[in-house]
Formats: sequence, C-alpha cells, structure tokens
Amino acid sequence: METFDAVIIGAGAAGLMAAITAGQRGRRVLLLDHGAAPGAKILISGGGRCNFTNRVAPAGRFLSANAHFCKSALSRYTPADFIALVDRHGIAWHEKTLGQLFCDGSAKQVVEMLVAECRSAGVEMRLGQAVRSIAHDGAFVVETGQNRIRAAALVIATGGLSIPKLGATGFAYEVAAQFGVPVTPVLPALVPLTFNEPEVAMMRALSGVSLVALVSIGKTVFREAMLFTHRGLSGPAILQASSYIGAGEALTIDLVPDRDAASLLLARKRERPRIELRTALAELLPQRLAQALAPDGEAAPIGGLADKVLVAMAERLKRWRLTPSGSEGYAKAEVTRGGIDTRALSSQTMEARTVPGLYFVGEAVDVTGWLGGYNFQWAWASGFSAGEAIGASS
Ligand code: FDA
Repeated sequence: METFDAVIIGAGAAGLMAAITAGQRGRRVLLLDHGAAPGAKILISGGGRCNFTNRVAPAGRFLSANAHFCKSALSRYTPADFIALVDRHGIAWHEKTLGQLFCDGSAKQVVEMLVAECRSAGVEMRLGQAVRSIAHDGAFVVETGQNRIRAAALVIATGGLSIPKLGATGFAYEVAAQFGVPVTPVLPALVPLTFNEPEVAMMRALSGVSLVALVSIGKTVFREAMLFTHRGLSGPAILQASSYIGAGEALTIDLVPDRDAASLLLARKRERPRIELRTALAELLPQRLAQALAPDGEAAPIGGLADKVLVAMAERLKRWRLTPSGSEGYAKAEVTRGGIDTRALSSQTMEARTVPGLYFVGEAVDVTGWLGGYNFQWAWASGFSAGEAIGASS
C-alpha cells in the first residue's frame, strides 16, 4: 500500500488547482483521473480559447440552494489571483464582452500552465486510473485497478454529468451517497432549449438566425445573443436562462430590446402605406425572422392593416412567451446544476462536515456559475480553498 497526504480524484480545473495548492504547501499529493489527459474540458472551453475567468465574480453570478455559500471561497481566490498566475506564465489574453477573459492563443496553454504548476509543486499525476473502491478507517484507502493508496485527505473533483463523452460521471454523487453526504437534485444547465410543434417548425426554418434579445425567466433577465436551431433555441441568452428555468415554466423574450416596435409600425403605416408588413418588420429584426413573423396576408400593404393588428404584432415582438418542452440534455449542457448539498460542506474549506478529511470541489458542488468564465472561477476558488486547508492541516 502506498501512502500520500492527499488523494485528489479528477484532474479537471478544480482538481488541478487543489493539487497545486496542497503540493505548494508541502503535502504529498496524488492526482488521479480515469481519462487519458488532464483538463479535457478546459481544452474545449470557450471555443478552444478558454474563458478562464471574468473580471469580477460576485456571488450573484452563481446559483445555489445557499446563495451565500460561494462567497468565502470566491474571496480567498479571486479573478485577479488567476490573472496573476496566467501572467506569470506569459499567456496572452484579452477581454471580450461582459468582462469575459479568454486566451489570445489556445486553451492548451492553460492546461500546460496547470500541469507545469503541478510538476513544480511535486504533485504526482496518474492518468487512465479508474477508482474501484474507497474505504475509510479514519484515513481513506483508495483502490484503483493498479494500486491501493492510503491518505488522510480525499478530494472529490470529478465534476458533474455534462458531456459524458469527455469522461463525465456521477462519481461525486456516488461517493457522497457512500458517506451519507446529501446531494441536491441535478439538472443540465447552460444548455440549448427544445420546443414542441408548432414552435419548433418555425425555429427549424429559422435555424442559423441570431439576434440580441432580452430573455427573462421570472425576474432574471439576460441581454445577450440568441440563436434559432433545428431543435429550438440556443445562444448565450438562452443558455443563461436555461439555468433558471423550471419544468413547464415559460420564457419571455423581447426580440426588439430598446426599440418601440408599436410606434415604428404605426409610423410606417402612416408614412409608407404601400410597403409590406415584413418590410417594416425587417427594420427591427433579421430579414428571415421578419418574414416568418409576418402573419398570413403578409404581402398586403401595411396601410391596409388595422392599428390594433400592428400594436398586437409589436406586443408579440416585445413579449414573446414560449414554454420549452425540455433541453438538449447533458450531451450539450456546459454544466450541471445542483450537486453536493452545500449545507453539508464548510464554505471555507469544502470539507464535509460529518466526514473529516473528505472534500468536494468544483462543479460537483451545488454552485453553478453563469456563462462567462464564472464556472472556471468557481473551480479555481473551491479547489484552492480545499488545497489550502489540506496544506494547513497537520
Ligand atoms: P471537470 O469536469 O473539468 O473535471 C472532472 C475530471 O474528473 C475530468 O478530468 C474527468 O475525466 C474526471 N472524472 C470524472 N469521473 C471520474 C471517475 N469516476 N474517476 C476518475 N476521474 C473521473 N466554464 C467557464 O468558466 N468558461 C468557459 O469558457 C467554459 N466553456 C465550456 C465549454 C464546454 C463545451 C463545456 C462542456 C463546459 C464549459 N465550461 C466553461 C464549464 C467548465 O468546463 C466546468 O465548469 C469546469 O470544467 C468544472 O471543473 P471541474 O474540475 O469541477 O470538473
């Protein structure tokens, strides 16, 4: 049997950061992953450029049954800390919209940086290792196909269920069940939404059309791009709303933010009564969408339409209510919402309150960020907090 101070299962964003932090504090750390390479999701993130954090990461950008839980970790390890790390490694980056920070080059640079940090912190990384069992007799005994390893600390950093083809599993929830740690219901989040007929037929016909919209779910409103797809709706505004929507709940979409559609249509009726409605709508919307939204008789001149018809059309553009049939599921979800119940964890260290030495970090925990670098910031911050606690333990 081998002995380490800490075994970390999952060499994704959170596990790599926990390993680096504990290793730098002199702990002997073993980082295990069943995949063939570390940081698989980092590599595909941000369209290959990794939106590695956001300029600011306030608690309000995260969903959790306990809105306050994330605050402590986020203040221990801030976006500025990760930016400083990226800068020390000479990785060039730029800011896109809404404070989102991306590599100029490739997400590969972030993985290489984290692997280099692991190496200099003396972390031992073993890949292609499936964990067969975990026993606990005060310390933890982790059995893989190849070894039995004993450690005082065990960090579960195996993420959520999103993108099974990249190696996602429900391992964290199984470990939680083994140790009596509660888990809140899990659901795909940051995911495209699907719709039934007749809406989906219209969306399919518009596949590829995108526009900036205001998408509301209850009191939460996102102003970002929205995209029509073969199965429904996607794009950042829809992905964001998907994290908030409940079953059977409706979205309200303002397709013409900042525009007074009713005044524009009524003005066109007065000024240019011979133009078709879809021509007037095309001043507000992408051409294909304008065409699809114009009702039957669309070719009739706008001058022949009653004011109340035009006002009703404008109202539809401002407040289009749609109820999704579901989502594209974990195969397409960027993250998993829900997870290890934060009431069972210390917000300072991520340690399970009832199982000393057992830590859960990253996406496995019931903390889900908005789109925009927030999920990586949570992975870095929660991984750091656990690594720091392990480093401080005697
Ligand atoms: P993560 O999933 O990264 O890592 C878990 C690790 O555990 C994996 O290496 C896996 O192989 C391993 N594992 C799983 N089960 C195991 C088992 N049973 N035994 C051993 N190992 C196991 N976020 C963001 O902030 N900015 C962005 O640009 C993007 N972009 C993005 C694009 C796409 C397509 C996706 C799917 C997701 C994003 N995200 C994102 C979200 C982000 O990738 C995600 O929140 C973090 O990777 C979560 O980090 P974790 O370390 O918690 O899990």
